[in-house]
Amino acid sequence: MNILTIETTCDETAAAVVTDRLAVLSSVVASQDALHRRFGGVVPEIASRAHLERILPVIDEAIRRAGLALDDLDAVAVANTPGLAGSLLVGLVAAKTLCLALDIPLVAVNHLQAHIYACRLSSGQEVFPCVGLIVSGGHTNLYRCDGPLDFELLGATIDDAAGEAFDKVASMLRLPYPGGPSIERAAREGNPAAYRFPRSFLHDEDRMDFSFSGLKTAVRYTIAGPGRQDFDSIHLDPSQVADLAASFQEAVVDCLVGKAFLALRRTGSGTLCVGGGVAANTRLRARLEQEAARRGVRLFVAPLSLCTDNAVMGAIAVERLKAGRTEPLDLEACPGLERRS
Ligand code: KG4
Ligand code: ZN
Repeated sequence: MNILTIETTCDETAAAVVTDRLAVLSSVVASQDALHRRFGGVVPEIASRAHLERILPVIDEAIRRAGLALDDLDAVAVANTPGLAGSLLVGLVAAKTLCLALDIPLVAVNHLQAHIYACRLSSGQEVFPCVGLIVSGGHTNLYRCDGPLDFELLGATIDDAAGEAFDKVASMLRLPYPGGPSIERAAREGNPAAYRFPRSFLHDEDRMDFSFSGLKTAVRYTIAGPGRQDFDSIHLDPSQVADLAASFQEAVVDCLVGKAFLALRRTGSGTLCVGGGVAANTRLRARLEQEAARRGVRLFVAPLSLCTDNAVMGAIAVERLKAGRTEPLDLEACPGLERRS
């Protein structure tokens, strides 16, 4: 079977063709970073308009690169949750239209489950059951994953997501958007112990949650004391920026690693899968590897190309097809964030 997968949950317009044996025939990602850069974050209305312009060329290109024609498709999968309403709708309408025109089944993809499935896909190994850590621009969630479609939320951020904190702190340090890669670059020259920033909940063994808004405020107050209105005029020299970036990154990494391994202890699981844009972070990957080796945990981190949003991870649709789970053409988008209620 050839499955077209479509991803438009946030600001990446992506399509891929995968087979039911998990071969990846093509992958196309049109990034919108350049459109959102001057705002320092994703502007939902700009994102949905850009998806509208790009979705058909991106789908055409994915099918062309796979060496297929439209008639060769056997199913279309689309991420319909979670995400930005206007963005989700563009992918969903494109997917439904193709299913209607070609008379093939529609498969719904949960974008967060897909981020974890990227580990299954890239490793070529069975990774379930496992603990799943998703660290992205919108989510910092820990799951008990009994199977690819069987996720139970164990903990989540109560305010900012890790990627969001990277983006906001980068903006304070006047580093370019997206903030994660910029902070990582600046941090290479910095001292991670230069500033002692807060690590919320880290020593609370009863909580598998995260909080990054206090950390963000601590960085701001380090740059300029509370109440300063002239924040933008404060000069930071490159070594200060490097130290602030490294110390901030270390605090985030401590929390992510600490809680992921707490979840492993709590669930008794010996396998950790990590996905989402922040999983591209070299320092996080190194610390996870160290800790996993020390504790004898099987660790799977999505490869860089599958950390940030892409359609290849939509191959999780194969699991739904195997389980006989296809959708009617009135499938709805479920926008928003997946948080603990
Ligand atoms: O998964 P993703 O592409 O989109 C969402 O579903 O949110 O994640 C995007 C987030 C952004 O906040 C970006 O700053 C962050 O991932 N990110 C990183 C790195 N690369 C991307 N954060 C830290 N280090 C990186 N190398
Ligand atoms: Zn994502």
